[in-house]
Amino acid sequence: MTTPTTISSSGEATASTATRMLTFAATACLVVATVGQWLFGIYILLFYGKTTLTGDFARWNRVLPHGYVEGDWKGNLIVGSHVLLAAVLVIGGPLQLMSPIRQNFLRFHRWLGRTYVTTAILVSLAGLIMVWTRGTIGDLTQKISISLQAIYIISFALLAIRAARARRFDQHRAWALRLFMVTNGVWFFRVGLMGWLLINGGPVGFDPKTFTGPFLTALAVFTYALPVSLLVLEMYFHAQKKPDNTFRFITAAFIFLCTVIMAIGIFGATVGMWLPRI
Ligand code: HEM
Repeated sequence: MTTPTTISSSGEATASTATRMLTFAATACLVVATVGQWLFGIYILLFYGKTTLTGDFARWNRVLPHGYVEGDWKGNLIVGSHVLLAAVLVIGGPLQLMSPIRQNFLRFHRWLGRTYVTTAILVSLAGLIMVWTRGTIGDLTQKISISLQAIYIISFALLAIRAARARRFDQHRAWALRLFMVTNGVWFFRVGLMGWLLINGGPVGFDPKTFTGPFLTALAVFTYALPVSLLVLEMYFHAQKKPDNTFRFITAAFIFLCTVIMAIGIFGATVGMWLPRI
């Protein structure tokens, strides 16, 4: 016979399984994202760092159609700062989220946090100038979407600083995580694109010459303008707060699914994009 005690203990077991699944999914996601971000960071340092140090700026144009323009030193400086400072974001971002570093090296966490926030704002401003003055591949929807992302980055960075200064650490954590998600929009875009190419065995749903088409429109909208990454994060926040086991299981499953897609995309981007360029 089922007694109230057995019901409550089986309820507790389900609750603890749901919580464990959620934590495990979030940890797996962070580990996979960290590996992928650092691979992107290594590519940035080896490609842009090396060409900058050796003065071989013309090589940027193998990757960026409007990367280096002879005689336009201001524009070139903006592009150079954008890509080199980007390394600080993709290498430093995951470090900020690691709790052992936060707990044991608080001064480093604070220093890196200030650097990250300032860099995110500078990289976004440089990106906006690049999109609207130098031109880039892609259509107007892609340009508007990435510009919206720059506005999210700048706004979330300022909100994260404001919460930290007011010592509202719960809010600071939430805004810092939102900032991390939108700052990684460009990384999600690359990983999403290369995962799609890998799964389909080539370009499907877009024209690789003009870099336009329904797939790229959807990818730009859902990584930049209406980021799915933010939706996943908000689900995670909600699942952590509300003792609703079903929602915790659904969120954990969704995070797992995103992690698998991300892992495929990271493999595709590393093998198909970053390694061949170095
Ligand atoms: C904040 C995180 C960002 C990072 C880490 C980042 C990183 C990069 C990197 C590494 C490149 C070189 C492309 C490559 O080698 O694959 C690049 C190019 C570029 N980025 Fe960003 N970026 C960020 C944000 C933005 C934003 C917010 C914008 C626009 C508002 C932007 C606009 C551009 C443009 C226009 C290019 C040149 C693309 C072309 O010539 O077609 N970036 N970015």
